[in-house]
Amino acid sequence: MSSGHIPVLLKEALDILNIKQGNIYVDGTLGGGGFSEDILIRLHNDGFLIGIDRDSEAVRNVQLEFEKKFDNKNFKLFHSNFSKIDEIIKSEGFAGIDGVVLDLGISSIQLEGGRGFSFNEVGEGGLDMRMDKENSLTAYEIINYYPEKTLADIIWRFGDEKFSRKIAKRIVEFRKNKTVETSLELADIVRKAVYRSYGKFKQFKTDPATKTFMALRIFVNKEYDSLTEFLEKLKNVLNKGGVVAIISFHSGEDRIVKHFFKNCSDFKPINKKPIIPEDEEMKNNPRSRSAKLRAFNRV
Ligand SMILES: C[S@@+](CC[C@H](N)C(=O)[O-])C[C@H]1O[C@@H](n2cnc3c(N)ncnc32)[C@H](O)[C@@H]1O
Repeated sequence: MSSGHIPVLLKEALDILNIKQGNIYVDGTLGGGGFSEDILIRLHNDGFLIGIDRDSEAVRNVQLEFEKKFDNKNFKLFHSNFSKIDEIIKSEGFAGIDGVVLDLGISSIQLEGGRGFSFNEVGEGGLDMRMDKENSLTAYEIINYYPEKTLADIIWRFGDEKFSRKIAKRIVEFRKNKTVETSLELADIVRKAVYRSYGKFKQFKTDPATKTFMALRIFVNKEYDSLTEFLEKLKNVLNKGGVVAIISFHSGEDRIVKHFFKNCSDFKPINKKPIIPEDEEMKNNPRSRSAKLRAFNRV
């Protein structure tokens, strides 16, 4: 497996996909290649894997690794958005696929890559937060040039942050003197706004900057739009009996998945409740703590 990213709920997701030789699968969030590698191993050279990531670096790295590891070239990797799944499948000449997995969010490689995603020193960088560097909108532009009300709305809507107005106010105060350049600078502004609202003695379970950073990342990358577009295309690409497995990491994206399938008679849930990681996985990989896996059959 590629170094740097520990996959979450990997075995659970792939068991549910029920990989069968000769079938065609899509990994819509290639990342460090952990899921794709396991799919290829389970295919035993018989079947085909399409891997997609909107991050060109991720695709390049996994391509190099897989070329060395897998002689039988029964895979193709695409630098694209999983919302384009229909076009990608068509371009390969396939009428439909037998399974697709999405492991949403960002990888540890991106988080620690100095691209502005991280509010910690590891991964500190300029305020960018684009998964796809071909997109034009960056977190820098939002933080330094958006009006206070718009900033507050973004932090509230995509981060569920109750101090969104106070945080936005503090950002705008800061930028009267200078622009906010780095992720650490932004984290510091946000923490101060939250500390001030709570008082000094509050103990925080998670860093007070978490929700603001999540909101910005979701907004910069239009993550909800991509997910919704993907879900709407699903019934046209997934063969009957095929499986879709989606791992989400926060309530906003899980809500989109849950509501979509609740109102769609083309799919049946495989499990009544979402699957969550075992205690052991949560202990070894803190990122997994908020993970939820939902899977559905195309009927
Ligand atoms: C959590 S990581 C996936 C890790 C992967 N399962 C593994 O085993 O290494 C999420 C990846 O999905 C990619 N991604 C997120 N949204 C995407 C989208 N709409 N289209 C394509 N890739 C996306 C990110 O760039 C990131 O590399």
